[in-house]
Amino acid sequence: MTEVVVETKHLTRRFGAVVAVRDLNLQIFKGEVFGLLGPNGSGKTTTIRMLCGLLAPSEGTAIVAGVDVREAPDRIKELIGYMSQRFGLYEDLTVAENMDFYAGIYGLEGPSKRGRIAEVVSFLGLDRRLGQLAGTLSGGWKQRLALACSMMHRPPVLFLDEPTAGVDPAARRGFWQTIHSLAAQGTTIIVTTHYMDEAERCIRVALLSQGHLIALGHPDEVAAQVGQGAKTLEDAFVALQERDEQEQA
Ligand SMILES: Nc1ncnc2c1ncn2[C@@H]1O[C@H](COP(=O)(O)OP(=O)(O)O)[C@@H](O)[C@H]1O
Ligand SMILES: [Mg+2]
Repeated sequence: MTEVVVETKHLTRRFGAVVAVRDLNLQIFKGEVFGLLGPNGSGKTTTIRMLCGLLAPSEGTAIVAGVDVREAPDRIKELIGYMSQRFGLYEDLTVAENMDFYAGIYGLEGPSKRGRIAEVVSFLGLDRRLGQLAGTLSGGWKQRLALACSMMHRPPVLFLDEPTAGVDPAARRGFWQTIHSLAAQGTTIIVTTHYMDEAERCIRVALLSQGHLIALGHPDEVAAQVGQGAKTLEDAFVALQERDEQEQA
């Protein structure tokens, strides 16, 4: 696991006086499940939006699947899948229609489109939901459909921004198995979460606080880097959250 698929170089984004992401330097490897972890407002979504070519960096840059996000943000979009915090589904379309729509956006047509949809349906177990309106699905099924839509074009890199928010524990576990099997097939996965049990299932995590990278490594190593007596990732997370809250008060 040595091929670098995502690299950030002094990646920085300001919104007025707020520095949402500050001088971020990361290397993420092929087939990794990489977690971005941090309290609300720590810069996770801003980082992902820059890596997806949706938001320009203020300073620094990132290389994603060989493309510089600053130089060719539109090319990045063909190389990545992005599942946003709000899933981006059309609630008044059926499961099948949502997949057909996204496959079309990604330029699939005819037999190759039908073939790919069938493959994704079977991989994610969506067979029996095809005729159901997306708006009537449970959180867990919406999440599966959103993942299906984001992977239609076989992207080598998948960005999942809080993919399990509002999803029940059983569905969350199934979702993580799916994520790991995609990674085992060579997809690089970058995922944000604020559930510690999920963070512990990442190969490495980056812990962010107020736009700063505080710690980086295997989930077990990160707690010690935070200090403040943190023994577990959960301790470390809570310590950061409390510190942020005190500073904001
Ligand atoms: N479009 C925006 N305009 C102004 N401030 C923003 C915008 N997007 C994010 N921010 C600010 O940047 C910081 C990081 O936000 P975000 O990346 O959404 O954090 P997270 O996803 O970790 O909760 C926050 O202080 C947030 O208010
Ligand atoms: Mg966010």
